[in-house]
Amino acid sequence: MSARADLNGKNLISTQDWTVEELEILFDLAAELKDAKREGRPTSLLQAKTLYMIFFDASTRTRNSFETGMTQLGGHAIYLSPDRMQISHGENAKDTANVLARYGDAIAIRHCEMGVGNPYLNEVAQHAGVPVINMQCDIYHPCQILADYLTIREQFGDTRGLKLGVAWTSAPNYVRPLSVPQSLILMMPRFGIDVTLAYPPEFKLMPEIEVQAKANADAAGVKFEISDRFEDAFEDADVVIPKSWGPLVTTRDVPEGLRLIEQYSSWRCDSRHMALGKKRLIYMHPLPADRGREVTDEVIDGPQSVVYDEAENRLHVQKALMALTM
Ligand code: CP
Repeated sequence: MSARADLNGKNLISTQDWTVEELEILFDLAAELKDAKREGRPTSLLQAKTLYMIFFDASTRTRNSFETGMTQLGGHAIYLSPDRMQISHGENAKDTANVLARYGDAIAIRHCEMGVGNPYLNEVAQHAGVPVINMQCDIYHPCQILADYLTIREQFGDTRGLKLGVAWTSAPNYVRPLSVPQSLILMMPRFGIDVTLAYPPEFKLMPEIEVQAKANADAAGVKFEISDRFEDAFEDADVVIPKSWGPLVTTRDVPEGLRLIEQYSSWRCDSRHMALGKKRLIYMHPLPADRGREVTDEVIDGPQSVVYDEAENRLHVQKALMALTM
């Protein structure tokens, strides 16, 4: 097994920057790496390489899958928290990027602050000279969507003609970013998947992302529809991803956002919704899920749920991403 050189040095800030052919290379390598791990074969593709991981926001899956993935590839990942770096004293993106790039081989960043995270990643990428990986920003969460697609491909084989429902759910404990649903609606149509996006009016996504998603769907000859009915995401679906996000296009006021989330408490996935889909319908969620509010235990722990396969696939797609780009 050897990583292909033609993606060496490439950033992943959005899947929009990668062609379908490049993404297919990544998924094929992810599947190979998953098999190798299962069979106990070594995959030392990144010996002596270092990944810096800067987390402005909390994480369970992203941190541990990247860090473990680097270990399994023979390299080393370093966890960096801005409050323990000179970023906390105002060191800018250019200086941080240049210095880390002199030491190591890639920089991964999670920065979800609305209007701040994505520009910060782009500024680091402009100066780094090593690949920059988006571990989630205010606009995109590409690594999550790569894992989601690998999971769907494992479940169905050919993904063309499938229907994916992406539905907003009510989770009132904190205001989540828009990055997961936005990345889903952008990438899935490019792989031949019809997408129905359902949300209450106050929870619209960034208008330019919805326009881009429609353009991707038109180019691929598939459907992209938006509805204000929760059930529309489930009817005749093969895959549903019901998850919460904040009303960030409508308001950035947190108490007002939480009030709006509470207002739609009936937007919760239960077995009656799952019965609206095709017989083979699967339930996915990027996690963490707000159990009891976003989804009932019966569904998330039930036979249609593949949430732990989905979480595991973060490891395999990110190993492929690092092996190809670093
Ligand atoms: N899905 C996801 O990104 O999980 P974490 O926030 O735990 O990294």
